[in-house]
Amino acid sequence: MTAPAIVASVLGADYSRLAAEVLDLQAAGVDRIQWDVMDGRFVPNLTFGAAVVGACRPYVDLPFEAHLMVEDPDLVLADFVSAGCGTVIVHVETCQHLHRTLSNIRDLGARAGVAVNPSTSLDFAPYVLDQLDQILIMTVNPGFGGQEYIGAMEDKVSEARELADRSERPIQIEVDGGISASTAAASHRAGAELLVVGSALLNHPSGKRAAAEELREVLA
Ligand code: DX5
Repeated sequence: MTAPAIVASVLGADYSRLAAEVLDLQAAGVDRIQWDVMDGRFVPNLTFGAAVVGACRPYVDLPFEAHLMVEDPDLVLADFVSAGCGTVIVHVETCQHLHRTLSNIRDLGARAGVAVNPSTSLDFAPYVLDQLDQILIMTVNPGFGGQEYIGAMEDKVSEARELADRSERPIQIEVDGGISASTAAASHRAGAELLVVGSALLNHPSGKRAAAEELREVLA
């Protein structure tokens, strides 16, 4: 089993020096940056828009993915692709016409992902596999960093992995929420190849590089 990729969430970063933070994360050796976009409606928190993502784009070479925790994501898909996100992830809970939304993301030239909250099933997934590049299994209830990992989601991660393996498409399985040195290996064993990590990277007492190295060690 190959080692998973570390996707750094900047939700808990220092917003007064965001470009420096993404530069630090790149230097620490993470594989991607995830932007947790929140509208204060779908989730009880409000974060940043495409302009902030675009302002940080020129500073690093890392792939950017937008995790849209917003109602009506179709209204902002093009903005985040234009801002430099190569992957756009929408929540199935916010899409009236998920197949069309995923197709719209791909038509914009980006990779299309769908995220599911802890209580949401994957029953929809077989009908959109041909539009999917990524499935994000939330291992916390969305809205905030630093929450406790919901281990019961590992069965859903494995279900998503089996679905992806049945498809001809290279669909990546991602987990997000409470991922740290103590939970990363279990989520990887369950089938996740992309691990979104926020607090465990940003708040590590020895810094981002040490945090990334610690994660790589437990995943080796
Ligand atoms: C929740 C967010 C968080 C964030 C990472 O809506 O999506 O999961 O990315 O948070 P932690 O701090 O748990 O790694």
